[in-house]
Amino acid sequence: IADVQDEIDHELISNADIHKKIQEVADRVSEDYRGETPLLIAVLKGAVNTLAAFSQALHIHAEMDFMSISSYGAGTQSSGTITIRQDLSTDVRGRHVLIVEDIVDSGRTLAWLIDELKKRGAASVEVFALLEKPARHEVPVDVKYKGYEVPDEFVVGFGLDFDERYRNLDSIAVLKPEVYQGE
Ligand code: PRP
Ligand code: MN
Ligand code: MG
Repeated sequence: IADVQDEIDHELISNADIHKKIQEVADRVSEDYRGETPLLIAVLKGAVNTLAAFSQALHIHAEMDFMSISSYGAGTQSSGTITIRQDLSTDVRGRHVLIVEDIVDSGRTLAWLIDELKKRGAASVEVFALLEKPARHEVPVDVKYKGYEVPDEFVVGFGLDFDERYRNLDSIAVLKPEVYQGE
């Protein structure tokens, strides 16, 4: 496969629309956190692209940190058990934390992380999720800042991967079914 577009069935959200939505959310967040320096926490690896765009769209100072957690093991089904692959380097005690995620699927990753950050003593914990797949929600998650809802299809791009590929696609797109059916 020569080109990152070769196995794309159709585009769901263009790069321009992604940035437009991120700017709208960043304007709101900049107002809500005026006078604070929130700590943006991105969940590796999918949230990296969203964090980069979102942080640049903010009008206020913000710090960033990263956490790598896994709930999926080798399979595609969520195992329900979360393991920390790489922890934060920041003490969140007393901090206003804003988790930045690419997508809420079952909600298990976020439910665990919100709880964990509160246990560590964060002053507040809110969430910005660029995408949500309501059809797949299993546990309730309070997402204050929402981007787009997407249908229950295999979406990739802007951080979202299929087998580690397509994270660098600049839009959100649906893969051709033969790509993942052949796996
Ligand atoms: C994906 C996605 C979210 C999570 C959402 O991450 O980036 O973090 O799954 O699923 P959930 O709501 O069912 O928990 P993944 O575990 O694939 O790791 P990645 O970010 O490195 O791709
Ligand atoms: Mn992820
Ligand atoms: Mg993934």
